[in-house]
Amino acid sequence: MRQYLRLLILGLIFLPAALPAKKASTSINVIPYPQSVVTGKGYFKGAGANFNCDPEIDNESVRLIREFAERIKFVTGRTNSFASPVGLVKVAEEGAMKGFVFIKDSSKGPEEYSIDITKKTCTVKASSKNGFLYALQTLRQLTDPAIFSDKIDPSQKFLFPVVSIKDKPRFAYRGMHLDCSRHFFPVEEVKKYLDIMALYKLNRLHWHLTDDQGWRVEIKAYPKLTQIGAFRNGTMIGKDFSSNDGKRYGGYYTQDQIREVVAYAESLGITIIPEIDLPGHMLGVLSAYPELGCTGGPYEVWTKWGVSEEVLCPGKEDMFIFLENMFNELLELFPSEYIHIGGDECPKTEWEKCPACQARIKALGIKGDGKHSAEQFLQSYVTARVQKFLNSKGRKIIGWDEVLEGELAPGATVMSWRGVDGGIKASAMGFDVIMTPNTYCYFDYYQSDKTEQEPLAIGGHLPIEQVYGYEPFDGLDASQQKHILGVQANLWTEYITTNEYLEYMLLPRMCALSEVQWCKSEDKNFDRFTSSMRNESFKIFDALGYNYRKY
Ligand code: ACM
Ligand code: ZN
Repeated sequence: MRQYLRLLILGLIFLPAALPAKKASTSINVIPYPQSVVTGKGYFKGAGANFNCDPEIDNESVRLIREFAERIKFVTGRTNSFASPVGLVKVAEEGAMKGFVFIKDSSKGPEEYSIDITKKTCTVKASSKNGFLYALQTLRQLTDPAIFSDKIDPSQKFLFPVVSIKDKPRFAYRGMHLDCSRHFFPVEEVKKYLDIMALYKLNRLHWHLTDDQGWRVEIKAYPKLTQIGAFRNGTMIGKDFSSNDGKRYGGYYTQDQIREVVAYAESLGITIIPEIDLPGHMLGVLSAYPELGCTGGPYEVWTKWGVSEEVLCPGKEDMFIFLENMFNELLELFPSEYIHIGGDECPKTEWEKCPACQARIKALGIKGDGKHSAEQFLQSYVTARVQKFLNSKGRKIIGWDEVLEGELAPGATVMSWRGVDGGIKASAMGFDVIMTPNTYCYFDYYQSDKTEQEPLAIGGHLPIEQVYGYEPFDGLDASQQKHILGVQANLWTEYITTNEYLEYMLLPRMCALSEVQWCKSEDKNFDRFTSSMRNESFKIFDALGYNYRKY
């Protein structure tokens, strides 16, 4: 008993030290962290609060606001009034209102917003859809993660801290890539991917739809692309390049499904940029239309990973006709200003031997220049021809940094993936650049150096601190910095076989990426970030059913 008493007294003495200090929080658990945050004392209660909406706000934004209001209403089982946007609120009456107040503020940029929370009101201002969208994403992270839950809890108050936020992004292009060729992910998983991107204010999905291991988009003029090119006769097992699991594997998106995904992304402020990787990484096409290759085949949809030497034949005019017809259908599906045409890892061994390719080189008067071979310039010819065609349709091209080998026509955007060098070089030459260096942005790399404790990955080591620490302007002078449109991480899926595995490689590294894309470098703080990730993001992932790597 005396022993027990002593423990109790000791406990009382040390209890204050053991409890977290109860001081006003000076930061909020929002990722990516807003540009300006002034915290106050107390809370605004969201449960049961009225929603007031400026009649000037566009219908799409009203729809997003309504969705947010409906979540609070659903979880709390209460009725929020949702004011009709028609003739209800004039900006001049702002001060008189209580509850949530949404106001159109035309002085703000397209992705900019402000939130002012007092104990009585939560006032949101933006000029257009993406501003309201991002304000709502911030609000979702400011309150209880139960806002994402499907459980009804009438005791839930949905408290929002008193705070004043002014926010806008550092970069206009905030991308995430998804490879659906090496492994195919169903529409529902692609939408789930888009949902979590939108929550962290990403606005571009680079959708890698074609590769040696499968063509994934229905093109009605070329039905064999999906009848033959979308399926492979098995897949190598683990890292054994001589193996085959013997299971036929494949799938593709119908045009209706593509339209559905594009519209869904658009509703979340995300533009989908499709990638047709050419002239290499093309066994999906060649297996279906072997006449488009140098040798005429036969070809097979690849069952293993790596870089195939079998590529499109630029000596054949029919190959360009195929590309133009195919792009004509693809452009109908994807309204994006940018179309990614790949250009990476295209071996030239077949072109060196191919009479048609050599005849094309001769006819064009192409010569190597000592730095680049004639065949590398032949690839530049392919890039330029496709670029000219897409430009004639009002689109712009993006290419992997190999497109710099040889010559590149003005107006192309370069995606720097082999480290940062391609981005440094391209921006010095006056090209726009999207930075996706494998040294910071390859999410198919291991998240830990204890690889035996991780699911099989392609290799590499990219822990979350490394992603977070990326500074896209390093090594660039002011004139080059102007050409950096933004940053993207890439998720190649050779070893990523399931939805759960995909989410595990994505999260939470994508949260770190979002601060690289959104925050000024001086506003980043890894300790604050990890604390928000644990206190908020992980709870959100749990509520929404995402798999993620725990820290
Ligand atoms: C790439 O990772 N091959 C662009
Ligand atoms: Zn050829």
